Amino acid sequence: MKDQLIIFDTTLRDGEQSPGASMTREEKVRIAKQLEKMRVDVIEAGFPAASNGDFESVKAVADTIKDSTVCGLARALERDIDRCGEAIKGANSGRIHTFIATSPIHMEKKLRMSPDQVVEQAVKAVQWARKWTDNVEFSPEDAGRSELDFLCRVLEAVIAAGAKTVNIPDTVGYNLPEQFGNLIRNLRERIPNADQAIFSVHCHNDLGLAVANSLSAVASGARQVECTINGLGERAGNASLEEVVMAVRTRQDIFSCDTRIDTTQIVPASRMVSNITGFAVQPNKAIVGANAFAHESGIHQDGVLKHRETYEIMRAEDVGWTANKMVLGKHSGRNAFKTRLSELGIELESEEAVNAAFARFKELADKKHEIFDEDLHALVSDEATALESEIYKLVSLKVCSETGETPHAQVVLAEQGEEKSAASDGGGPVDAAFKAIEALVQSGAELQLYSVNNITSGTDAQGEVTVRLSKGGRIVNGQGADTDIVVASAKAYLHALNKLASKLERAHPQV
Ligand code: KIV
Ligand code: ZN
Repeated sequence: MKDQLIIFDTTLRDGEQSPGASMTREEKVRIAKQLEKMRVDVIEAGFPAASNGDFESVKAVADTIKDSTVCGLARALERDIDRCGEAIKGANSGRIHTFIATSPIHMEKKLRMSPDQVVEQAVKAVQWARKWTDNVEFSPEDAGRSELDFLCRVLEAVIAAGAKTVNIPDTVGYNLPEQFGNLIRNLRERIPNADQAIFSVHCHNDLGLAVANSLSAVASGARQVECTINGLGERAGNASLEEVVMAVRTRQDIFSCDTRIDTTQIVPASRMVSNITGFAVQPNKAIVGANAFAHESGIHQDGVLKHRETYEIMRAEDVGWTANKMVLGKHSGRNAFKTRLSELGIELESEEAVNAAFARFKELADKKHEIFDEDLHALVSDEATALESEIYKLVSLKVCSETGETPHAQVVLAEQGEEKSAASDGGGPVDAAFKAIEALVQSGAELQLYSVNNITSGTDAQGEVTVRLSKGGRIVNGQGADTDIVVASAKAYLHALNKLASKLERAHPQV
């Protein structure tokens, strides 16, 4: 019998710490449902003490998810832990994850606490969290740069205080695989009560080693890996769930454990996270990149046709790749539309939402005769964006672009119901549209990123645009999809402006 490797997904917490990746409560619930469907063991849904919005999101996930454990993050402070306990109390299975830094640099420069004080606070935090649940996880932040003797002392104390999982974070992505594997082995051998807790790892990708470090730790006895879909996360991101899961699954000859993950749900999860956050997946990304299973060279193609295993170590269908299938067209009815959404794991909240999405589907089907699954995902994301509390809404857009002439855009927006219009020239049609919008909104925001992806192939494909804006230290991403990429761009720009205008303030757990 193989051991179980627990998959702890932190897309909704550490993933959300990527600049611009913040998600609404509804978006978090949608992703959490997909993670549950994928049979993720633990979903870290957020940091409830960060803001009321974060608290509500964690609570909504805890109240919705039935089969996965729902976890909230809390600093080793009573008020954070109580907020977290409140947020997860509706869960079938809830967990509190509390942490405090243990590296010399963090204790001295950030916390300004002595090692003795850190041990005391860690133990108190675990004891306090146990008032809410038996399922308590403790992390010594920056463990990857902490002293081994001190780590052993802290971990022994928190296990004695009742922590059921001890998580070893390489917070700044500094470790190398052999070193990190040895760290886990040493901790398990040296801590007298190590057998009373599950050892977990949480690796960041600053040196591109998050997955390698996590796998090395698994080989040394770690039985929980913290990871994110598409490797999303603070700075260079976290270990990517799909890579960890598929490495362990593919190399069962090496690993003495396996996960419970339904790997066919990986690609749908990757798409959903990419759609919602606006973080496109690079084409050569392992497992979920568009080229991950594409064979370009003639020799490879020939080999694969003769015998698939000549060049493929995994089957595309096992991770959820399906051929672009025409699923619906302009004659499809509401029932077929609703059925396909539910087959894709998309459940709209109300009949009203289904009707609105169906109306948009019909509009799209008029412009684009073949509607693929990818179009439906984009349509639903767009619909969810439209339902968010919008301050600015696009009413109409007219753009003139002609060789030799300066592009010109005229835009009509509704600002809290009141229509306003403006016009502007620009370097190109998108630039002109953005300038016209800015003339009305006067946000003063700085455009940091503009990207367009085609959702499916063909010149009638929908363009999916991501716009990243920053203002006063806040960074937000906006998305928009349309068969007309200037319209998609205007939608994405307005989506980002609406997020900036929502003035959502939240604390960062590690600052
Ligand atoms: O990277 C880190 O140290 C964290 C902890 C809060 C687990 O995200
Ligand atoms: Zn982290």
